[in-house]
Amino acid sequence: MYQIYVRSFADANGDGVGDIQGIISRLDHLAALGVDGIWLTPVFASPQFDFGYDVSDYREIHHEFGTIGDMDELLREAHARNIAVILDMILSHTSIEHPWFRAHPERYLWSEERPNNWLSAFGGSAWQFDEKTSKYYYHRYYPEQPHLDWSNPDVRHAMHDVIAFWVDRGVDGFRLDSIDGLAVDPQLRDEPRATGTGIAGRENDNWADYWQLEHLHTTNLPQVLDELARLKAAFPGTSFLVEADLPRTALKPYLEIADSAFSFEFFRARLDGAAIAPIIDGAGIHGRPAWALSNHDLPRMVSRWGRPRAGIAAMLLLTLPGWAFIYQGDEIGMIDGPGGPVAFDRSGRDAVRHPMQWDATGGFSTAEPWLPMIDPADCNVADQLGDPHSMIELYRALISFRRQLSGPVEVIEASAGELIYHRGSETVQLNFGAGPVRRVEGDVRFSTGRLSSDLLPPDTGVIVRS
Ligand code: NOJ
Repeated sequence: MYQIYVRSFADANGDGVGDIQGIISRLDHLAALGVDGIWLTPVFASPQFDFGYDVSDYREIHHEFGTIGDMDELLREAHARNIAVILDMILSHTSIEHPWFRAHPERYLWSEERPNNWLSAFGGSAWQFDEKTSKYYYHRYYPEQPHLDWSNPDVRHAMHDVIAFWVDRGVDGFRLDSIDGLAVDPQLRDEPRATGTGIAGRENDNWADYWQLEHLHTTNLPQVLDELARLKAAFPGTSFLVEADLPRTALKPYLEIADSAFSFEFFRARLDGAAIAPIIDGAGIHGRPAWALSNHDLPRMVSRWGRPRAGIAAMLLLTLPGWAFIYQGDEIGMIDGPGGPVAFDRSGRDAVRHPMQWDATGGFSTAEPWLPMIDPADCNVADQLGDPHSMIELYRALISFRRQLSGPVEVIEASAGELIYHRGSETVQLNFGAGPVRRVEGDVRFSTGRLSSDLLPPDTGVIVRS
């Protein structure tokens, strides 16, 4: 699977902002890369306070991205290339500019006072004073994203109608944005302080303050699973991919209902075999998590783990069972950028949203891109295609090899600098330590670098058949 950050992928109409026609123009490239599907970050009408995660009309395309007609064309063109299309669906909140906010205030969560200590993930209290009503409303993210009240059945009906609208147009599935926070405690009780049992690495997030509370009353309530089960029952032929920033024990019931769920433990793990082993061991038996090492919210894999390790990171990602997500640009080894002259995202995520680098001059847009290019002369698709030592060719080869893999993951050895696991009949060995290690025995079927002896050099991975 390939994640497209629509605003930064390809700009066809020359306004500096990516669009749906731009995606269509690059579908042949994605087909050649070998992807089975694309996930588009939100494309619906939106004032873009949270770049589309604040929807003002779920049945319209945001004007900078195109029209419904463009989306229909994208669906046709993608399907003609056997590429599935997954849309980002935001069920837990809308934009403050959605007509419901004023016409149907009963669909949101209101309080006369700030009723508790709940925090917004983006900082500060989760309760915002509204001058028009002189009441406070709950928002898990920006104040421009009021939270829906899923105890009101009208909300479910309205959202099921929205999903039916897109399923009828041919959409194959949905990433369910922040679905763990769909329902909240009806008694609005205070949240306790976190006990430190959460996901390792969260302390480095932009949202570090948010993780100081244990989100007992705003996430992972039983109603969330009920709503997920209702969705799956109502749309049995549609894929649902859960975005819930929860540890793997808490994800288990989601994986029993949904088609897949992102592993945020995997995303946040240090490149350390001992840290990664328990996260991937048994994958394929115990559910089918979705694996990603970069996305539009958190620092990119190459910037976190270092460019020399990008090859083994790709091997790790693409040898796991289930859904593996490549975030646009990771296939060429893009790094985090400096952001722009002004901060577009108030939570500091511009750095991971710079435009895709198609050629040495950029190739993203004929106009000045909304965020500057980072280093297109050094890192771009055109220069890498056809170069057998390039990152993109490694990704293409791994994606193609991946089709032969089957069976669950069984970790054999894990230490700070090395990870060895079986994937069915193949053994994957990754060396991210400082020196060479003895290579596992067997026929080498794939390697991320040159091998000259029975040793595996540092920053190299192999797949062998034992
Ligand atoms: C998760 C999305 O990935 C992020 O970009 C967004 O800000 C929040 N959900 C709120 O919708």
